[in-house]
Amino acid sequence: MIILGIETSCDETAAAVVKEGTTIAASVVASQIEVHHRYGGVVPELASRKHIEAIVPVVDEALSKADLFLKDIHAIAVTRGPGLVGALLVGFAFAKACAYALEIPWVGVNHLEGHINSVFLEPDPPLFPFIALLVSGGHTSIYHVTSHITVELMGQTRDDAAGEAFDKVAKMLEMGYPGGGVIDRISRAGDPTRIKFPRTYLDKSGFDFSFSGIKTAVNRYIMNHKDHIKDQIPDIAAGFQEAVLDVLCYKAIRAAMQKGCDRIALVGGVAANSRLREKLRSDARRKGICVYIPSLHLCGDNAAMIAAVGYHYLKAGIVSDLQDDVFSRNRL
Ligand code: KG4
Ligand code: ZN
Repeated sequence: MIILGIETSCDETAAAVVKEGTTIAASVVASQIEVHHRYGGVVPELASRKHIEAIVPVVDEALSKADLFLKDIHAIAVTRGPGLVGALLVGFAFAKACAYALEIPWVGVNHLEGHINSVFLEPDPPLFPFIALLVSGGHTSIYHVTSHITVELMGQTRDDAAGEAFDKVAKMLEMGYPGGGVIDRISRAGDPTRIKFPRTYLDKSGFDFSFSGIKTAVNRYIMNHKDHIKDQIPDIAAGFQEAVLDVLCYKAIRAAMQKGCDRIALVGGVAANSRLREKLRSDARRKGICVYIPSLHLCGDNAAMIAAVGYHYLKAGIVSDLQDDVFSRNRL
């Protein structure tokens, strides 16, 4: 089955062609970073407009890279939510219209299930069941995953997502937007032990997260050391990053141990973080747990992961209907 995947939940217009739910024939991601950069965050109205401009050229590019025409597509999978409603609607309406015109099935899927399924686009995917640590700009959650389309939520952030905290700290340090990659890079030159930021475990036996406290702690530190902040930036970034990663790794490994599961998948935009990739692997190895992390191009938002999960819905006979609508808040 050849599936056209479409993703427009936030600030990336993406289209991909995926064969049998695992083989990427083409994956195109048009980022809007330049549009939102000067505002220090995503401006929803601008995001919708940019998606409208980009959707047709991005789909065309994906088809031409896959050396296919629309008539060769068997089904369409599109992100239904969570995300920005105006942004989601562009991809969703496009997918509906396209499927209707081509008389092929289509399915709207949850963006987070897309991230979880991103590990199946790699050559050595995990067996079920496994724990998914999903860390992105909008979500931070732990799931017990028993099939491609069956996940149990074990815990999630009660306030900010980890990626959001990375972005806000980068903004406080005047490092631009989005900040995750920048913090990752400058942390390499810093000492993660010199400035000790708080680790918020909440209930240590539970799996919920909270990242608003650390944001405030970093802000307070910056305010109290205003005069000589420049040379401390790498240490602040490294100290902040280590505090966030300590909690993420601790809880993911605890979740695996509680479920008697020796596999963890690390997914979402923050899974691109070099220190997180290394730390989760080494912490988990000590407990006999194997870690699965997608390649960098599959960590951030993309449409291949949407096609990958859509394949399993379609195979199970689950399709969407023209009356279906997008949703903004998470339902997983
Ligand atoms: O999954 P994603 O592309 O979009 C959402 O679904 O939210 O995640 C975007 C988030 C942003 O907050 C970005 O700063 C963060 O992922 N990110 C990183 C890194 N690369 C992207 N965070 C930490 N380290 C990175 N290398
Ligand atoms: Zn995402």
